[in-house]
Amino acid sequence: MDQDPTRTNDTDRSPTLRSHDWFGRLDKMGFVHRSWMKNQGHPDRMFDGRPVIGICNTWSDLTPCNAHFRSLAEHVKRGVYEAGGFPLEFPVMSLGEILMRPTTMLYRNLASMDVEESIRGNPLDGVVLMTGCDKTTPSTLMGACSVDLPTIVLPGGAMLNGKFQGEDIGSGTDVWKFSDELRAGCMSLAEFRTAESCMSRSDGHCMTMGTASTMACMVETLGMTLTGAAAIPAPDSRRRRTAHETGSRIVEMVEEDLRPSQILTRHAFENAIRVNAAIGGSTNFVVHLLAIAGRVGVDLSLDDFDELGSRMPLLVNLMPSGEYLMEDFYYAGGLPAVLEELRDDLHLDALTVTGRSLGANTDGAPCHDREVIKSADEPLSEEAGLTVLRGNLCEDGAIIKPSAASPELMQHRGPAVVFETIEDYHERIDDPDLDVDKDSVLVLKNVGPKGYPGMPEVGNMSLPQKLLKEGVRDMVRISDARMSGTAFGTNVLHVAPESAVGGTLALVEDGDPIALDVPNRRLHLDVPEGELARRRAAWTPPPTPHSERGYIRMYLDHVMQANEGADFDFLLGRSDSTVERTNH
Ligand code: FES
Repeated sequence: MDQDPTRTNDTDRSPTLRSHDWFGRLDKMGFVHRSWMKNQGHPDRMFDGRPVIGICNTWSDLTPCNAHFRSLAEHVKRGVYEAGGFPLEFPVMSLGEILMRPTTMLYRNLASMDVEESIRGNPLDGVVLMTGCDKTTPSTLMGACSVDLPTIVLPGGAMLNGKFQGEDIGSGTDVWKFSDELRAGCMSLAEFRTAESCMSRSDGHCMTMGTASTMACMVETLGMTLTGAAAIPAPDSRRRRTAHETGSRIVEMVEEDLRPSQILTRHAFENAIRVNAAIGGSTNFVVHLLAIAGRVGVDLSLDDFDELGSRMPLLVNLMPSGEYLMEDFYYAGGLPAVLEELRDDLHLDALTVTGRSLGANTDGAPCHDREVIKSADEPLSEEAGLTVLRGNLCEDGAIIKPSAASPELMQHRGPAVVFETIEDYHERIDDPDLDVDKDSVLVLKNVGPKGYPGMPEVGNMSLPQKLLKEGVRDMVRISDARMSGTAFGTNVLHVAPESAVGGTLALVEDGDPIALDVPNRRLHLDVPEGELARRRAAWTPPPTPHSERGYIRMYLDHVMQANEGADFDFLLGRSDSTVERTNH
């Protein structure tokens, strides 16, 4: 039964909520705001001053990892209604890794702008961010941080383990392996095609500790999800239950006025860096965490990742650094079990969306399988975090993930084999006459933020076919690109400044000796300074495709380098939730 229509909204429970400025008005625009919304069947009481919760949905058929989000959102709504809120679901740009060209990273900042303006421009008091595929987590969180309304993240969960020929197989990680096996003639095309169906067999995102899983663990460690939300498999009913609880909790957060700026402190970021090392998280974590820190005004630099993370032990035995998959991780205890193991290294007093501290949320969290989640006393490896490299080839830094690399290549010197562009690489990598051997260092230029543009995941470039056939499975590879979080190999990534803006990487020529020394954090191009000066004077910037107009023009004018998170310079910081003028 609807409430008495003559009743005014001066009985509002929370007239101070920002949504009241839309739905609480008793004038022409109040009529307009309420009337048109009623065409969806909402009763009058939905406009009585109860918290209005935006459900920011990154569902898309073009983003298979998030394709189950429409039904998942219904469970969030149940929770919101139960707690006395008014849920309103809205779509935002969805970035699917699998189909989008030239790379979703080109659009991360655009998606964050969509999220920021969609939240600020609408009558919302709090927001649930539904995230899954890689970029959908940082883009939505970056946007929400710039508005700073009460916000909670609901990760969508990983796919069930892939199963092929009696073995578990992991998204991404086994694609690279199968692809190399096929090219080396060790796998038939029929087997290759069968494996496709066996790999992706349920709702959810990549089930290795790739970027999506890393991002889910990142937001849980940052305190932005309910406890244990990161690891629940997408098809598991507990994922839907968590969606329900998330919907209920955001209503309480609005009542408590608990905002991201209170949760995302420097301590929360330090926790995230340490935990990322312990889980063997993706290298993409670096650019995304830097960008999120930039939105909330936390001072974070590339060196923090080395200083805080590089000496952390690897505890989680998941591909690509280990053997297992996210489903196993959940059954073993998930992220709370890791946090419990790392208590001595974490800021346990960091506030979370639960309203309690990270330490209180995870105190006593059990581990059910020590094969999957190791103890701090007996880790998988002693020092697992990302290493930040410096040297004349990367004045502003580069990164490498030692846990996914070959120990024998951690100190290596070899001659460069240079590819000027990704097209050049594709054209020549399998040329039988390519002058390359297992000691060569593969160098790929013009794949950074401005060069590609968009800094794609091509840093884990496949090895030359002729070396694969000889049994070579890893080589040192250097680029200004990123690599997929599911990938492995001795890949030096995120070289800054990138080659397209004239970084030293642009000056490397075939045969130049390059020295990689991971223990000493050094990456050196062994060419005399005078010769480098001569090459620098002769260097001209490469052309950038499709750069004359539109979004790519804006991207090129404003994107920062990888060591700064590759956000736009004008998006740093936040503008809060105020909108100075109304729409009439
Ligand atoms: Fe979406 Fe891997 S492709 S998470």
